[in-house]
Amino acid sequence: MITVIQLENITKRFKSGRGLVKALDNISLNIEEGSTTVISGKSGSGKTTLLNCIGGLDKPETGRVVIAGVDIHALSERALCLFKRSHLGFVFQHSNLLNYLSVFQNIAFPLELNGVEKNQIKNRIHTMLDMIGLSGLDNAMPHELSGGEAQRVAFARAIAHSPKLIIADEPTASLDSETGMNLVKLMFNLGKKQGCIMVIATHDKEIMNLADFKVQMRDGKIIKEE
Ligand SMILES: Nc1ncnc2c1ncn2[C@@H]1O[C@H](COP(=O)(O)OP(=O)(O)O)[C@@H](O)[C@H]1O
Ligand SMILES: [Mg+2]
Repeated sequence: MITVIQLENITKRFKSGRGLVKALDNISLNIEEGSTTVISGKSGSGKTTLLNCIGGLDKPETGRVVIAGVDIHALSERALCLFKRSHLGFVFQHSNLLNYLSVFQNIAFPLELNGVEKNQIKNRIHTMLDMIGLSGLDNAMPHELSGGEAQRVAFARAIAHSPKLIIADEPTASLDSETGMNLVKLMFNLGKKQGCIMVIATHDKEIMNLADFKVQMRDGKIIKEE
């Protein structure tokens, strides 16, 4: 297998009322091409900080994050922004859809930023809506969607521009367990089809079992990898 993402000795501390908290304590991890990884661990174990460092939303204090040969934290702010826009996709706990835009416009947004041509955007979105089982909902507004539907749209938005990597931070946390399982199954299936690496944080045991690789964290450290 080919390693596409390398985390090398990542550390990150935060100042808090209790002093310095080691959110990430010397994390090293390799992630393979086309694989699915689930990161689990109790609240406060460092999952979000790790995902944010992998996705360039936060900067580690020491160590490197290398994605497809690019040391992302060594890039200029502008270059990192362009890198994220073209190669990464994000899904969060709450769908973070733009409320005043329709389903179509929400998914179109990152494609427009990437300079994709109008007709291509239309075709791509119709294919995406079909794949997530929401065809015909182009003009629906986010508030008209159920929680599960909104997360499927958020996922379609994250993957529409065919990124190398999708990072999802507890995407099922606000869904019931069956809806959550179905969302992650869909995400993993479509991710595999597109050769996109998927890294998901969750504390749902059933969801952990869907992944190729399972990483367990505690106190900023990886305590188990299988
Ligand atoms: N911006 C921040 N400021 C201060 N402390 C933080 C910040 N972000 C995270 N932490 C601390 O870092 C640790 C790891 O947090 P986090 O990565 O959010 O864990 P998880 O996602 O597993 O719940 C926790 O102790 C948390 O309180
Ligand atoms: Mg978190």
